[in-house]
Amino acid sequence: MKFKLISLFPEMLESILSVSIIGRAVKDGKLEIEYIQLRDYSENKHKKVDDYPYGGGPGMLLKPEPVYNALLQNRSQNSKVIYMSPKGKNLTQSIVKSLAEEEEIIIIAGHYEGLDQRIIDNYVDESISIGEYVLTGGELPAAVLVDSIARMLPGVLSGEESFISESHYDILLEHPQYTRPQEFMGHKVPDILLSGNHAEIEKWRRFKSIEHTIIYRPDLIDGRDELIDEYNKLKKYFSK
Ligand SMILES: C[S@@+](CC[C@H](N)C(=O)[O-])C[C@H]1O[C@@H](n2cnc3c(N)ncnc32)[C@H](O)[C@@H]1O
Repeated sequence: MKFKLISLFPEMLESILSVSIIGRAVKDGKLEIEYIQLRDYSENKHKKVDDYPYGGGPGMLLKPEPVYNALLQNRSQNSKVIYMSPKGKNLTQSIVKSLAEEEEIIIIAGHYEGLDQRIIDNYVDESISIGEYVLTGGELPAAVLVDSIARMLPGVLSGEESFISESHYDILLEHPQYTRPQEFMGHKVPDILLSGNHAEIEKWRRFKSIEHTIIYRPDLIDGRDELIDEYNKLKKYFSK
């Protein structure tokens, strides 16, 4: 999979995506990331990329020409063009899963008041938001999108299936996890995790996974009565 990131601050994106798991995956050739400086596509001799909005109002908008030129010169037949925008569809794990099937994704990080609407209407396939709040620029959202997709790609995480039990992979949140020491400040790791009985551990994890969803995100399982029944049975089983 190849990502092409169009931004006024590509160094910001690179500083996030060149380290840790994603940085290693890039070095190992599991994915490619190209950083594209929007200013390089300005037709203006001063490399200006923004201008006042027609009709007045606060702030500046990114001019359409540099964004169009950057897309024209970097998109191929198989590129999917995404604009990071607070007006976009909220990013979810199921969107991430489907984007992980793409061959090439071009992400536009906006700045100032955002993009000229003609670019969004005519040259963007999808607008994606990372939440209902507004940031100063699209670099952090673009990094969030790349990270979330990249970790689904084969060979990027060390345990191939480690995302399968994670929160939001399916409807439930992840079960709680513990590591050494067995006792910390008087708080003990649940005995069952030390039992070595893998079938029982799996059953307990399923129980806790449903329980955490009920506690933290009941909205995710609204109307799923079969999960509540399963939870009540497991609760009875583990309280014996
Ligand atoms: C200050 S924002 C522009 C907000 C825009 N005027 C509006 O009200 O919808 C500048 C840029 O940050 C990015 N951005 C800000 N918040 C975002 C969010 N929640 N999700 C995705 N991108 C966001 C977008 O790329 C946007 O073009």
